[in-house]
Amino acid sequence: MNIKRVKIYGAGSIGNHLANAARAVGADVVVVDVSEAALQRMKTEIYPMRYGSWDAAIQLCTPASEPKGGFDLICIGTPPAYHLPLALAAVKEQPKAIQIEKPLCAPSLELADDIAREAAAAGVKVFIGYDHVVGRSARKLQDLLREKVVGEVATFDVEFREHWGGIFKAHPWLSGPADSYLGFWEAGGGASGEHSHALNFWQFISHQLGHGRVSEVDAMLTYVRDGKAHYDSLCLLHLRTEDGFTGRVVQDVVTQPVKKWAFIQGTAGTLEWHNGYNPQGDAVILKKVGQPAELTELPKRRPDDFIEEMKHIDACLQPGAAPSVMSLERGLETMLVVAAAHLSEKTKRRVKIDYTKGWSPAALSPL
Ligand SMILES: NC(=O)c1ccc[n+]([C@@H]2O[C@H](COP(=O)([O-])OP(=O)(O)OC[C@H]3O[C@@H](n4cnc5c(N)ncnc54)[C@H](O)[C@@H]3O)[C@@H](O)[C@H]2O)c1
Repeated sequence: MNIKRVKIYGAGSIGNHLANAARAVGADVVVVDVSEAALQRMKTEIYPMRYGSWDAAIQLCTPASEPKGGFDLICIGTPPAYHLPLALAAVKEQPKAIQIEKPLCAPSLELADDIAREAAAAGVKVFIGYDHVVGRSARKLQDLLREKVVGEVATFDVEFREHWGGIFKAHPWLSGPADSYLGFWEAGGGASGEHSHALNFWQFISHQLGHGRVSEVDAMLTYVRDGKAHYDSLCLLHLRTEDGFTGRVVQDVVTQPVKKWAFIQGTAGTLEWHNGYNPQGDAVILKKVGQPAELTELPKRRPDDFIEEMKHIDACLQPGAAPSVMSLERGLETMLVVAAAHLSEKTKRRVKIDYTKGWSPAALSPL
């Protein structure tokens, strides 16, 4: 394994998953959190409840006593506002790689250009935590697309629709959206930020099919004010790529039961990808015109999502490895579209993305 020493910022929900995944691949793990209560909760509640028992080999500390330098991988699992300041500091430690959780930053795109520049200058590989694109079911979908089982793809849609309830079940210490960034779209929360896995998955398919980056965004969002909270509960995106391909993404925090789904329409049939098809895992369904549906179930447990992610990052650190589908550039592309979506709703116009202008609001202009 290339990943032998891992430092994780954030002892919350994702920090626990990443720590467990890093331990599963045999790495030494240090977790840093600004909150003593969060570190304690990790040790006595979240980790033992999720994975059976606390792993005493995991070192817990606050920033005052955190070790610096000598890490293969530094993961940033804090609320989005801290992602890029911590990532920029992490670059200076010269790890082999940095993993930053999704969404990469707030829709203001502050520091987005800086991380791209600094990571490239330091030669540090950066991965964004859109882990669905490296799961077994996504790899199955990729294989079927490569084999062109549904012929030429005409269009595809992705929907991640999940009521807040599921998220707050994983955070029993929060009483509602206003208690965290989740309830504030400008801080990277709301449906557009929290469920940006859907948009990123759409971009993943677009790249896989050779249609490239999104160049036009036509969006409608529903914003909710609830006490102090101000978030988008529904984010509808119509997207066009640089080569003129068109498709659709839906993200919401109202749908229950949850639906996480991709649908691909080809000339010879359809492909459906279901995340959480049943309690046992994911599935891919192939329907060829005039033939019975072929269901492929891909069993998994929730911790497997992050173990697959850790293995993917490790494989990408091999000399000569292909560019990652979880790369910084892919995460930045996703953030540009999220920012474009808010601008589209605000201006009531379609927004064009100009990638020559960098990862900043200057790249966005209403048509
Ligand atoms: N990839 C996924 O499937 C997935 C799943 C869950 C969460 N996430 C993402 O992970 C991030 C964190 O979400 P969460 O649910 O774990 O949040 P959380 O609130 O459970 O935990 C975040 C932790 O970060 C700590 N923190 C804040 N600032 C810090 C700093 N400067 N240094 C160290 N620690 C700091 C907080 O004290 C808190 O304990 C979010 O961006 C979220 O979208 C991704």
